[in-house]
Amino acid sequence: MTFLSATLDRVKPSPTIAVTTKAAELKAAGRDVIGLGAGEPDFDTPQNIKDAAVAAIAEGKTKYTAVDGIPTLKEAICAKFTRDNDLDYVPAQVTVGTGGKQVLYNAFMATLNPGDEVIIPAPYWVSYPDMVLLAGGTPVTVEATLEANFKITPAQLEAAITPQTKWFLFNSPSNPTGAGYSWSELKELTDVLMRHPHVWVMTDDMYEHLAYGNFKFCTPAQVEPGLYDRTLTVNGVSKAYAMTGWRIGYAAGPEHLIKAIRKVQSQSTSNPCSVSQYAAVEALNGTQDFLKPNNTLFEGRRDLVVSMLNQAPGIVCPKPEGAFYVYPSIAGCIGKTSAAGTEITDDEVFATALLEETGVAVVFGAAFGLSPNFRVSYATSDEALKEACQRVITFCEGLT
Ligand SMILES: Cc1ncc(COP(=O)(O)O)c(C=O)c1O
Repeated sequence: MTFLSATLDRVKPSPTIAVTTKAAELKAAGRDVIGLGAGEPDFDTPQNIKDAAVAAIAEGKTKYTAVDGIPTLKEAICAKFTRDNDLDYVPAQVTVGTGGKQVLYNAFMATLNPGDEVIIPAPYWVSYPDMVLLAGGTPVTVEATLEANFKITPAQLEAAITPQTKWFLFNSPSNPTGAGYSWSELKELTDVLMRHPHVWVMTDDMYEHLAYGNFKFCTPAQVEPGLYDRTLTVNGVSKAYAMTGWRIGYAAGPEHLIKAIRKVQSQSTSNPCSVSQYAAVEALNGTQDFLKPNNTLFEGRRDLVVSMLNQAPGIVCPKPEGAFYVYPSIAGCIGKTSAAGTEITDDEVFATALLEETGVAVVFGAAFGLSPNFRVSYATSDEALKEACQRVITFCEGLT
């Protein structure tokens, strides 16, 4: 009998850890490291949200709550879906968890049986395939190439669907590429799904409010109301409201699915932090005034990073629609040798050499399922971004 679970054998340790550990080691050794790896906004949670949390503590709202969220938060979530997404839900169709991450995990735990397939466009957020594996399902990846602006086509989706497909997992704007599907692009995908009534849609709308220029965010059940009864719309307060540490995510969907998710949560973590739930009520119901200036700031950073990285020989960096990531290709650097003598054989070697030789920490593409690329998070100051991009340019100019 082995001590550790066999399921765990199917899951990889996080491939991003190597880069993060290395960056921390170099920093501790006194090196000047610029981290472009963090997946969180670089500004503080807005004051009105913090004040709501302090008031909740003062009022003693510090006890267990209903397993999947306090009624006022569920009502705020319903109002948010109506306001932002033209989607009508009642509180019984809403679940609140400890971050969007737990909600996604619960949904897979509640629905996957051995043999069930989940279609995941690649590159993907690192946790998706491993969550599916932990829940006993089979991830099926579909490549969203740089040439296709990191978006899958309807034909690719159609080809990936089998009788075993349980979920299509959709994420727009995307982590790690920032790619966002327009209404008509998404409609083409939902048209495919309408032809396959056994396939459910899990949409991760975490980056909804980080959308730039003319790009307008849209979500599957809004674009195709015919999918309403088989869509789980997942969202959260982490990214839009700079609340990553508060751990509040939520989803809305058919009541029987929400009930099943509640059952998983009731036997694992119970309710998400009570104080954070009151803060999330203020995030959703309070002023939304800071969203626009933040978007303007992020859009400026996106434009800066895209234009600078495209000056680096061997790098091609598309301009994405949203989130705070870019996902440049380093195809033109493969096979070359760095100034310090490292042969760039793949994107992991590239990221390691970049870190060791220039002090810029990025996450290599293989971690997200599409190579040869790397992910830059531009949720950091303009000065740090300029300096980091200049170092990337110098590094690439030094490749021979
Ligand atoms: C695409 C995506 N989904 C979900 C999450 C999880 O967010 P939360 O902080 O709500 O757990 C992240 C966080 O990085 C993400 O990038």
